[in-house]
Amino acid sequence: MATGTRLSHVFPLGSRLNERGRLEVGGCDTIELAREYGTPAYVVAEDDLRTRARAFMQAGSEAGHADFHVVFASKAFPCLAVMRLFAQEGLWCDVASGGELQLALAAGFEPQRIVLHGNAKSQAELRMALEAGIALIVIDNFDEIERLAGLLGKTAQPDGAQAVLVRVTPGVTGETHEKISTGQADSKFGFAMADAAEAFARIRDLAGLSLQGVHAHIGSQILELEPFRRLAAELSTLGEFPVWDLGGGLGVQYTEDRPAPALEDYVAAILGAAREHGIGAEARVLVEPGRSLTANSCVTLYSVESVKQNVSRWVAVDGGMSDNLRPMLYGAPYEAHVVDRFGGHTRCNLAGKHCESGDVIVRGALLDDPRPGDVIVTPATGAYGFSMANNYNGVPRPPVIFCRDGDARVVVRRESFEDLTARDVA
Ligand code: LLP
Repeated sequence: MATGTRLSHVFPLGSRLNERGRLEVGGCDTIELAREYGTPAYVVAEDDLRTRARAFMQAGSEAGHADFHVVFASKAFPCLAVMRLFAQEGLWCDVASGGELQLALAAGFEPQRIVLHGNAKSQAELRMALEAGIALIVIDNFDEIERLAGLLGKTAQPDGAQAVLVRVTPGVTGETHEKISTGQADSKFGFAMADAAEAFARIRDLAGLSLQGVHAHIGSQILELEPFRRLAAELSTLGEFPVWDLGGGLGVQYTEDRPAPALEDYVAAILGAAREHGIGAEARVLVEPGRSLTANSCVTLYSVESVKQNVSRWVAVDGGMSDNLRPMLYGAPYEAHVVDRFGGHTRCNLAGKHCESGDVIVRGALLDDPRPGDVIVTPATGAYGFSMANNYNGVPRPPVIFCRDGDARVVVRRESFEDLTARDVA
């Protein structure tokens, strides 16, 4: 591949191979980043995040929806720097636990831009949400209505009734991994469509709650637009409401050969279908993208520790399932390249350093004859890598480095060995 070349959509916007033939992200040379900050490391192009946030909002206003909001599903990349950036850009925030709520508040999201989800919200989490005065609690089940009824009046709510949505499973699914499909009727999330009316009635009986509308999330990494249109159609059958939350789920491009729809087309499709089915331009419409805001903004850098040849060629790096569980959990595909020698022809299995055979990040990657000390990149690791990272085998979690116009800064430091024992109290 020629130097100076811009790279595909799998890489963060603005990535290129520089004059020395090295991958550059956010204007920073990845060999120099690896040298300075060590590996493994998550490297984020800050401008990429901002560009996507703006494109989402712009697409909503182009579709003629004045009261359209982009709610960042914080589970995709829950660190303060990412969340603060989205708060500054005017996004809302979706949280699914007390911990994520705490992060969202710390990142500067106004409570009136925060939406709480969860199929097993605890008493403490509901109390925290009521006291913070968040925009919406998305009610998942009848027990939660009872629980809220018990809490109302006993908590110091800022003012007025708490606005809520009812989550339903609309019976719409997209083609994705079964572990991340949520729209089907037999799901742990939400009310069956047939129970929605009963949920509305019970909520309307409670003076402290104000039913604003409905929510559904059909699943994640969905690469067609049709399921999103069907979702809008199904939800519209539930009645007339001021607020419609259409969830997240837009898929992204992880590898050269599997493109994803543009986010502009997704917003146009889902809002178009909403309008067609009677959800008017005056309604408040929310979407909750996680992956499509962050996945392609980030790459992971690894260093090669060893190379061996048996039936296959095994290239072992200094990370793996502790920083990216997705290949092991969902069979998720990734690309890999040697950062200063793109375009190789040696078929390799890129293996992690963890003590199990399943710890393989990419099978059959075509790399340019990797050797110990080479820096390897896997692009599109900005969603659910950081958030599902763990300390398996006592491996400290990687830092997050923000890059912009050639300047790099650490926004989450690397975990230390001391961190690994910080919670052991006996
Ligand atoms: N809204 C709700 C209620 C959700 O449950 C989710 C994701 C989203 C929005 C954001 O979905 P997205 O736009 O990111 O597809 N760990 C899995 C993904 C789990 C998604 C869970 N819910 C993975 O690594 O693929």
